[in-house]
Amino acid sequence: MAGMEEKMIKTESPLANLPGPLLPWYRANARDLPWRHTRDPYRIWVSEIMLQQTRVAAVLGYYARFLEAFPSVEALADAPEEALLKLWEGLGYYSRARNLQKAARQVAQRGGFPEDYGELLELPGIGEYTAAAIASAAFGRREAAVDGNVLRTVTRITDNHADITDPKTKKNIRQQVQAILPEDEADIRIFNQAMMELGATVCVPNGPPKCLFCPAREICLGRLRGTAEALPVKAPKKARKREEKTVFIFLQGGKTALCKRPEAGLLAGLRKKPCSSSSKAVKRPYVNVRRLDCWRDCGSSQTWRVRWMKPLRRRPSRPGA
Ligand code: ADE
Repeated sequence: MAGMEEKMIKTESPLANLPGPLLPWYRANARDLPWRHTRDPYRIWVSEIMLQQTRVAAVLGYYARFLEAFPSVEALADAPEEALLKLWEGLGYYSRARNLQKAARQVAQRGGFPEDYGELLELPGIGEYTAAAIASAAFGRREAAVDGNVLRTVTRITDNHADITDPKTKKNIRQQVQAILPEDEADIRIFNQAMMELGATVCVPNGPPKCLFCPAREICLGRLRGTAEALPVKAPKKARKREEKTVFIFLQGGKTALCKRPEAGLLAGLRKKPCSSSSKAVKRPYVNVRRLDCWRDCGSSQTWRVRWMKPLRRRPSRPGA
């Protein structure tokens, strides 16, 4: 049965048949999200930066508050960094906020957003996916935006078993998507959104894809061959770096002492409790402290083994004193 259905699919790549059913499906079923009601590159850009590493539901409130505080690229360019970081608090990956402001200053200085994919790519914090998303949705440019959702959907539709962590696979898939981008400007503006919507809501990452609701079900080789759920293929990740740190809690008058992180690197410029910076330091015996907690693994981009120490107020008595 699957074999017969498969023979009925015309052309070499089933992807060529995707835009036909995809765009009407998107127009009828897309989630109503605020950045989909605008062609303003500033608003589209802010949404795409917030959506990097963060779920839609978590972004919505931040997006509304951010645009209320900074309604234009000029307002963001002129904002005090403290105010910007305050609004970003809780979203994580703070370098996104700093790059947003750096880029806003460049855009304000040049008198507006570049419309071209290559020029957008030169702005801080804008990678291939984001540049293509802005160029297409804001300016109607034919640029394919390929994120994890799109990689998953395309590998399933084409029954592609290449490793998607390999940059060559990503490049190849981008070329395939580029080849099926529509010509009509109104369609170009929604095509990338439609691709990511399909991946986010139907061709989902965890659990079986919802093929019954999929506009691509008739052309999807992964469904017809029963391989969809096993795709995409991803090489296993390397083990994460593990660091040991000891955190100190200095209390005075009910307040805890904080210090500022270095301006570059992880959580750059944010506050932290003082801590030892290397595993060597941890091996030194600490004096005059009380251990509050045992070792615990924490952290998202790196794993830290952290233990908490509370310095005692009394000085240790000197031997022989
Ligand atoms: N994830 C990344 N970009 C997105 C967008 N524009 N809409 C919904 N989810 C997204």
